[in-house]
Amino acid sequence: MSGLKLTATTFFGLEHVLAKELQQLGAQNVQTGNRAVYFEGDLGFMYKANYNLHTALRILRQLKSFHKIYKATQLYNAIVSIDWSEWFSPQQTFRIDVTGQSKFFKHTKFAALKAKDAIVDQFRSSHHQRPDIDLKQPDIRIVLHFKDQHLDVLLDSSGEPLHKRGYRTQTNTAPLNEVLAAGIVALSGWDARKSLLDPMCGSGTILIEAAMWQMRIPAAINRQKFAFQNWPDYDETLFNLIKNKSIDKIRELPTGIKLIGYDKAFSAIEKARQNIKNANLDAFISVKQADFFKTESVDSGLFLLFNPPYDERLSVDIKTFYKNIGDTLKQSYTGSEAWLLTGNLQTLKYVGLRPSKKIKLFNGKLESRLVQYLLYAGSRRGRLD
Ligand SMILES: C[S@@+](CC[C@H](N)C(=O)[O-])C[C@H]1O[C@@H](n2cnc3c(N)ncnc32)[C@H](O)[C@@H]1O
Repeated sequence: MSGLKLTATTFFGLEHVLAKELQQLGAQNVQTGNRAVYFEGDLGFMYKANYNLHTALRILRQLKSFHKIYKATQLYNAIVSIDWSEWFSPQQTFRIDVTGQSKFFKHTKFAALKAKDAIVDQFRSSHHQRPDIDLKQPDIRIVLHFKDQHLDVLLDSSGEPLHKRGYRTQTNTAPLNEVLAAGIVALSGWDARKSLLDPMCGSGTILIEAAMWQMRIPAAINRQKFAFQNWPDYDETLFNLIKNKSIDKIRELPTGIKLIGYDKAFSAIEKARQNIKNANLDAFISVKQADFFKTESVDSGLFLLFNPPYDERLSVDIKTFYKNIGDTLKQSYTGSEAWLLTGNLQTLKYVGLRPSKKIKLFNGKLESRLVQYLLYAGSRRGRLD
């Protein structure tokens, strides 16, 4: 079987990174959209995408498209025209999510309710039984995506979003989403020629995602469950084959390249250690308690990647904190390259260094920036005159 129409969703700003990942994995007809990448592949490729992709949140499989859907009865008829018993049984649970935009269905709950009625009515008349709704852990998740009068009906093949990798059992305050962490690793271009330092590592997400990215470890290697395993066409032998082939591609880090993390809070370091262990990466990543502002570079050229705190929970004011970041980079990390992600755009002016690159991203609804500072020795670049 080939030519399934598939959609991978992601964060705003990561669409091109995800498209590249998909191309490298072997997807066909890859096209970027808004927070989404469209592509084609067979059933095995859908498994491969779920198992491997670092920067996708969900993989959706298109069931059917409809035009001219602008009334509740049209929506009902469209949904009822799909034979749902091909996809699940009345003993399984489901939920419906409505995404996109339609000026005809402004209330997403109303559209979801109509679609649910259509599915339940169909099962009642064919099986004299109806499947129940489960909003938390449904067996089947149906997505209705509207673009005005156009409706795509899709099945979510992932289930829990793919950022739930399975390794993060411990979280510190404000942990970074794993998909976003993988995305900033990719956007920064870290190619493991320099050792990586996250000087404010919290629960260790950036370090873990960076190691997995460079070592080509499938992003979902530690995950137990995908929604496609509940589908009637689930092929376990094929999925096992794909998992084994993906695992065969794992490679070592170059000799001498390390991943290092600091955090001021010992509680954060304990959590990071546990997560790193869960991800089986303790041989490659080491973390220790340290105040970044009191550290010196352990290497002549490091690659720093971090997301400092940026909100009111900071015990010092933002101005002093970000000035300290700039001063520490300038004075103690000459010869290194630093990237930081912040969700408070004001903070950047306090760093006192001129960014060489600024990339716009959205962390959920929060507009953020990923910025690069090149800290050349003896050069004026990276410094504000
Ligand atoms: C936004 S969190 C980082 C989250 C992390 N990327 C994760 O995914 O869990 C910022 C971290 O910076 C740490 N921090 C604050 N000031 C610090 C300092 N001077 N030196 C080192 N770490 C610091 C905090 O303890 C906190 O864990």
